[in-house]
Amino acid sequence: MLDDKAYKSKINISEIAQYVGQEVTLAGWLYNKRSSGKIHFLLLRDGTNTIQCVVAKDAAPGEIFDTYNDLTLESSLIVKGIVKEDKRSPIGFEIQVNDLKVIQIAEEYPIGKKEHGIDFLLDHRHLWMRSKRPFAVLRIRHQVVNAIRQFFNERGFILIDTPIFTPAACEGTTTLFETEYFGETAFLAQSGQLYAEAGAMAFGKVYCFGPTFRAEKSKTRRHLTEFWMVEPEVAYFDLEDDMRLAEDFITFIVQSVLENCKMELDILERDVEPLKKVVAPFPRIAYDEAIDILKKNDINFEWGGDFGGTDETIISSQFDRPVIIHRYPAAIKAFYMKRDPENEKLALAMDVLAPEGYGEIIGGSQREDDYNALLKRIQEHQLPREAFEWYLDLRKYGSVPHAGFGMGIERTVGWICGTHHIRETIPLPRTIYRLTP
Ligand code: 4AD
Ligand code: MG
Repeated sequence: MLDDKAYKSKINISEIAQYVGQEVTLAGWLYNKRSSGKIHFLLLRDGTNTIQCVVAKDAAPGEIFDTYNDLTLESSLIVKGIVKEDKRSPIGFEIQVNDLKVIQIAEEYPIGKKEHGIDFLLDHRHLWMRSKRPFAVLRIRHQVVNAIRQFFNERGFILIDTPIFTPAACEGTTTLFETEYFGETAFLAQSGQLYAEAGAMAFGKVYCFGPTFRAEKSKTRRHLTEFWMVEPEVAYFDLEDDMRLAEDFITFIVQSVLENCKMELDILERDVEPLKKVVAPFPRIAYDEAIDILKKNDINFEWGGDFGGTDETIISSQFDRPVIIHRYPAAIKAFYMKRDPENEKLALAMDVLAPEGYGEIIGGSQREDDYNALLKRIQEHQLPREAFEWYLDLRKYGSVPHAGFGMGIERTVGWICGTHHIRETIPLPRTIYRLTP
């Protein structure tokens, strides 16, 4: 008989192929059950995958067979049995159970097989995480993060962790979260970039990767108030180098997911053909050319404005790969961006728009490396100079051309997974209306 420590010898369902014909122990939760009367079918999930466990009347002791009636969805249990190949099963194997130990009989599970509204599911996100779709999306998120780390490690980038409590704005003052900090005001970081720049002057090639915060009042399907951003920053790098890094980076991530997440993409019924085309180089167009595209599509767009979601969709739908738009009007971009020496009105900025209507996933630029020009911008943007003295220092002591970008993890995962809203791509989303669970 299995005892409650039997999980000590468990294997993962994901490794099941190595154990054909052998007896194994699995420990997990009941995802579903059905019965023909003489045979019970338990769908067991363990976080690595799900597998059908067959309990036949003649193969299992009577009390094991009868346990079936007590088992509720999400009850926790340990199962022992023989691994059989089964062509009809989605994972190719099933378990013929000869022993079973219930750890806990779950109370009536709120998430059933019927359709639930998105608000109900998000209120139960702590449980919903166990379902098939979140399982697939969050595992792809894991792979995206894995690929990011691998990409930078293979290229000699150093990880620089940047603070979350900050004294000033990086990306405009309208989306700052303010908090009291021992009698002073602190802001939650909108970006780690400015500190990553300090890191680049110390280590050459760096990246920061962490949660970032924006008090976004917009309730679009592309905005969270707390999201994760990865930001490489490189010394002796110009806009051209930055665009090349961005396209190599995206190519690497997408190809890594295609290679490692076949099961997950399959669960999501994601058409992988468009993803297979995501290979550098990407098309590059200037801001002015992007406007021409909008005009050809009967959109009345004034020079100087920023692209909205619909504009981005129209522009990106012209291409089968992500498209890079560069040289935006400086007036709509951040204070730290270097001006185009060929046209002072333009910033050496670039955005990468994902295909299939997913919009901007990367924003980046070459940085202003001249002390006086940077000081002037800080003043023009009415930013408090004291809070930026350290940042100005970087232009006093061995200033060099440098560039970097930030990629939003959730938007990238949303695009790769083909989800409608990015709230699905983070374990516990924070939006203007949601602080729980
Ligand atoms: O374009 P953004 O604002 O750029 C920066 O923050 C720079 N400091 C980055 C850098 O150069 N190091 O944001 C970068 C990316 C966007 O392209 C988008 O993917 C994501 O961050 N992002 C958001 N994702 C989810 N919800 C939001 N509210 C987001 N705001 C930006
Ligand atoms: Mg941006």
